[in-house]
Amino acid sequence: MAPLRRILSRARVQQRVRELAVQLRADYAEERPVFVGCLKGGFVFLADLVRQVGIPLQVDFIMVSSYGMGTTSKGEITVLKDVNTELAGRHVVFVDDIVDSGLTFQRVREHLLSRGPASLRVCALLARETALAEGAAIEYLGFPVPEGFVVGYGIDYAEDYRQLPDIYVLEGEG
Ligand code: IMP
Ligand code: MG
Repeated sequence: MAPLRRILSRARVQQRVRELAVQLRADYAEERPVFVGCLKGGFVFLADLVRQVGIPLQVDFIMVSSYGMGTTSKGEITVLKDVNTELAGRHVVFVDDIVDSGLTFQRVREHLLSRGPASLRVCALLARETALAEGAAIEYLGFPVPEGFVVGYGIDYAEDYRQLPDIYVLEGEG
């Protein structure tokens, strides 16, 4: 296995999750929102987040295919598993692991908006500094991250490392 360099400890991640949860609780206390987690990478973050938010809410999942390596210009995603919840008129929070180019979250946002939610906001654990500089609209962000392939806390490299409680950069990648 490739060497890992820890960039965010579990304590820092949990602290930030609690801070985001405070914001979400204030914003959605009366809304009974639907938190839509993006599989698979968002599953740990979503699970921690909903337990900290502590208000009535519902949970659903969406799974989308990632486009192939080096074909980011195509701009297409395929929905492999869609939400089952009726989103029309609901307040939706899309929860994802990492916004890299921003393409996935842009396409999923369009897909979810087509269901006619009352509102839609994005909560991402991580986002590339480059995507943020280009104006990616992420209402609730855990941490900006520089270049480098990130793993742990639900995020994988070739399906490995999702179980790690801390967040690492894979040395010798990206
Ligand atoms: P985007 O469409 O370029 O923003 O890519 C977003 C998706 O690619 C994320 O939801 C991840 O599934 C995956 N991804 C992007 N960067 C990384 C990384 O550093 N580690 C693991 N997965 C990543
Ligand atoms: Mg993802």
